[in-house]
Amino acid sequence: MSNQNIDQIKKEALSEIQRADTAEQVKSLSVKYLGRKGLVTLFLRNISALPEEERPEAGKKANQVKLTLEEACQSAIERILSADGDKKEIAIDISLPGRPAPRGSLHPITRITRRICDVFSRMGFNVAEGPEVETDYYNFEALNIPKNHPARDMQDTFYVSENIVLRTHTSPMQVRFMEKHRPPVRIIAPGKVYRCDSDITHTPMFHQVEGLLVDEHVSFGDLKGILTAFVHEVFDEQTSLRFRPSFFPFTEPSAEVDILCVICRGKGCKVCSGTGWLEVLGCGMVHPAVFENVGYDTGRYSGFAFGMGVERIAMLKYGINDIRLYYEGDMRFLKQF
Ligand code: FA5
Ligand code: MG
Repeated sequence: MSNQNIDQIKKEALSEIQRADTAEQVKSLSVKYLGRKGLVTLFLRNISALPEEERPEAGKKANQVKLTLEEACQSAIERILSADGDKKEIAIDISLPGRPAPRGSLHPITRITRRICDVFSRMGFNVAEGPEVETDYYNFEALNIPKNHPARDMQDTFYVSENIVLRTHTSPMQVRFMEKHRPPVRIIAPGKVYRCDSDITHTPMFHQVEGLLVDEHVSFGDLKGILTAFVHEVFDEQTSLRFRPSFFPFTEPSAEVDILCVICRGKGCKVCSGTGWLEVLGCGMVHPAVFENVGYDTGRYSGFAFGMGVERIAMLKYGINDIRLYYEGDMRFLKQF
């Protein structure tokens, strides 16, 4: 054993320690060189075998090598641990559940409109759509509501100009469709309508679904049957509805349909103005004057029409007690659907 030998050991040990890339490797190198039977330890133990004059120098050197290697092992461990730490930060754990991307959902009014259209489609009705900015003729005149007729007061109208209005109901679609098609007619017309009106059951913009069925021998009984089937389908068989005599210039006889208020279960509350019932639609047998306006033979054809308020149906379906909630855009409300 000589100084030459310890220099050689140091050189190899340092290069091996620098190349180590796991803590286990460093540990076993530490055992290999510094352990009880390690190369440096054996060198120190064998110093007594050296010639007397070489011993002090060799001992000093070997102890320095021991310290150097201990430090090298320590810094190798630190290097490896911090590299592991870096790796952890960017590592992707593919077993973690993904971060859900925020997803929108359909507005409750869209959902109910689709549901209504779906129920009537299955009863053989086709969907027809028309303009929201309407002429006075289609919105009123053709529906037997002449200018200056008191019935115009029933619907508070937004006028664009003297003869152009925002449609106040979907009924103009009856006229538009009948002008272009001969009976039999079986349509529904969903869409937005506008009235200068606002409280817990009225908004200035709301949605209606118009229905129109024209054929030979259509009776009020057919109307009642279809609307009852509709209500039982959208709500359930136990849902109470009532037909209340009413007036519309474009139907005769006319009725309004109320559904038992789900908010108070008929006891009377703010939503149903204490009556226990909420009006959801107007309906009746198409007035002969309307048929004449579109050139239908009033002796041969009869028909019924209805116009329902989508917001009102949705209020009853979801138990919503203020119609204005639909259009405030509050996510806490909208997220529930
Ligand atoms: C009409 O609009 C008639 N066109 C309905 C009709 C069609 C009758 C075909 C006969 C034949 P009314 O103004 O009552 O009728 O409105 C119909 C429904 O719309 C009401 O029953 C109610 O459910 C809803 N509604 C009316 N005004 C508002 C409003 N401001 N906000 C929300 N819903 C409303
Ligand atoms: Mg009404």
